[in-house]
Amino acid sequence: VSAPATARSVAELRARVRAWRAERLTIGFVPTMGALHAGHLALMRQARARCDRVMASIFVNPTQFAPHEDLSRYPRDEAGDLAKLAGAGVHLAYLPTVAEMYPEGASTWVEVAGLSQGLCAERRPHHFRGVATVVTMLLNQAQADLAVFGEKDYQQLQIIKRLARDLAIPTLIEGGATVREPDGLAMSSRNLLLTPEHRALAPMLNRVLRETAAALADGALAAPLLDAAVERLMGRGFRLVDYVELRDAETLAPLATAAYRPGRLLAAAHLGSVRLIDNVAVGDAAAA
Ligand code: PAF
Repeated sequence: VSAPATARSVAELRARVRAWRAERLTIGFVPTMGALHAGHLALMRQARARCDRVMASIFVNPTQFAPHEDLSRYPRDEAGDLAKLAGAGVHLAYLPTVAEMYPEGASTWVEVAGLSQGLCAERRPHHFRGVATVVTMLLNQAQADLAVFGEKDYQQLQIIKRLARDLAIPTLIEGGATVREPDGLAMSSRNLLLTPEHRALAPMLNRVLRETAAALADGALAAPLLDAAVERLMGRGFRLVDYVELRDAETLAPLATAAYRPGRLLAAAHLGSVRLIDNVAVGDAAAA
């Protein structure tokens, strides 16, 4: 497998995209922060199945990390990532520098009101502003027909769908199903940071979500089941549970039961210094 071509500036990226467009080829795009795993590669294959050419970006976006968060220890492995992109049939890797993405004096933010409140924003108040801003830039830079984002970051996916619609970005946004380890743990670059002991406990997050989703599926009241889920996680050794919540699958409005609207059960919890997130569909077996 040949290594993908690389572009490190917007100009290089656009030159490549222009050439493909001149050949009337369709273009798929998968933005990432690198440390690629099977979950990312599934998104690349999804884009590959739908488009003639696929590009992936690797950019660890500083504006979506708070000063105390894990930006400096976020895993980075450019050579390894490029080999994986080659294996996944990706045609172009876009590897912009921080200076390219945030030119001197950059002062524009994209904020998606409503969807960016609650859930992960409770503990990471400026996180989604950073995500929405960088994704808007990446989509404008790439001008792809389709962009694919993982459902593991469910709140992020809904925010990106909304900003693309609201800002008339002419790229179709598609979600890709979460890829899991055999024991159910959602694949994440942060799993690399877990101690062996915490890695063994981590699948409990998904197990508790699945069991809670099953109990919610027949329309039961959510509040006691969500409290019980938090208690189970704490009892099993999670240091802190940020939330376990039932939300409307599309608007993310809180739901008291999943009886009337398709729901999504979402959670974030800490094992040691690593914060894990996961989510599952409720009352819609096809989307689980
Ligand atoms: O999900 C991610 O890896 C990042 O949040 C994204 C969408 C690439 C923006 O930096």
